[in-house]
Amino acid sequence: MASSPCLLPIVLLLFIVSCAGRPFYPLPRKLAGSDKQPLQTSRPYNIAHRGSNGEIPEETAPAYLRAIEEGADFIETDILSSKDGVLICFHDVVLDFTTDIAEHKEFTDRKRTYEVQGVKSTGYFVVDFTLKELKSLRVKQRCPFRDQQYNGKFSIITFEEFISIALNAPRVVGIYPEIKNPVFINERVKWPDGKKFEDKFVETLKKNGYKGTYLSKDWLKKPAFIQSFAPTSLVYASKLTDLPKILLIDDVTVPTQDTNQTYWEITSDHYFDFINKYVVGIGPWKDTVVPVVKNYLQKPTDLVARAHAHNLQVHPYTYRNENSFLHFNFSQDPYAEYHYWLNTIGVDGLFTDFTGSLHNFQKWTSDDNSANKLLHKIAVMVSSYKKI
Ligand SMILES: *[C@@H]1O[C@H](CO)[C@@H](O)[C@H](O)[C@H]1NC(C)=O
Ligand SMILES: *[C@@H]1O[C@H](CO)[C@@H](O)[C@H](O)[C@H]1NC(C)=O
Repeated sequence: MASSPCLLPIVLLLFIVSCAGRPFYPLPRKLAGSDKQPLQTSRPYNIAHRGSNGEIPEETAPAYLRAIEEGADFIETDILSSKDGVLICFHDVVLDFTTDIAEHKEFTDRKRTYEVQGVKSTGYFVVDFTLKELKSLRVKQRCPFRDQQYNGKFSIITFEEFISIALNAPRVVGIYPEIKNPVFINERVKWPDGKKFEDKFVETLKKNGYKGTYLSKDWLKKPAFIQSFAPTSLVYASKLTDLPKILLIDDVTVPTQDTNQTYWEITSDHYFDFINKYVVGIGPWKDTVVPVVKNYLQKPTDLVARAHAHNLQVHPYTYRNENSFLHFNFSQDPYAEYHYWLNTIGVDGLFTDFTGSLHNFQKWTSDDNSANKLLHKIAVMVSSYKKI
């Protein structure tokens, strides 16, 4: 069919627009911070654990970009240091499990054994490689049952590069960096100016304009939570910055790496009274909040209620879609797990490997969602048929 003459002007207009080289509206990432869509603060936070690492190798630029695309409120990362004192995004103190270090013959003599948190570990330690050397490695997927197609494609990124990904996002996306293994890093890495790992960590945040107390005007422009398993690092960091901090809490069997305190000590009311002067919340492992036996949930503990009574948020970790991680109570349905934690337990943020799933769940179930209202209307209509 020939195009009708009255469509011609529109076709021409489209042609002109598409030829103009740049759109007539400002590109989203060129907008000033204040013009960006703000951080949502009306529902629990979607914290993209190591980026969208369920899909793309953890802590890489593409994993973070994917998480932003999928609706993350915060992108989460682990900060370690290279031998030459550059802060990088990497989870393990060794390179063995998520890089191609084994294929780099030039580094064979770098294998070491160090004590990390009271345990002797052997491998290729991040702290024995300069940034340049780390950049020559390629990252791979940690879990064998996840998509392997990106192995060998992406490199380790620096803390600065991670921050620029968040700041260049088309909407306000927060960051959630961890002061990772601070005891070990301070033992192994020395900065020429005599400063500590924690100083360098906070300096990097300040340099990039991250400041302000939780929900303050400054904070909402560049939201950040500082997280650590080491209470002394958080107390120390609180002298350097008023950014909100989260105390991570390990399994019940693991003492704190710096103060050698038990799980029971740091989750007591007495301790919450002390630590809430320094942190806005806790980040516990979810299986300690609701204990699990033989993959079945047990009676929930009072941890969330007690934390809330001390004005502490609760951001548990880690939510994962795969059957191998889902407890049987959830009928192998990750949405059932989100429903339970958001609506029965009532947490304030969730670390997830699958940002897209959590985002969709929250969108589809939020009260102000018009699609949800429509579904409700349809459900009401359909239910009336049943009566016939
Ligand atoms: C940590 O505390 C436990 C007792 O709770 C003790 O047995 C252990 O020796 C302590 N470790 C260090 C490194 O102080
Ligand atoms: C999970 O399932 C087990 C076994 O059916 C049951 O005993 C337990 O109460 C369930 N837990 C929750 C929180 O629903």
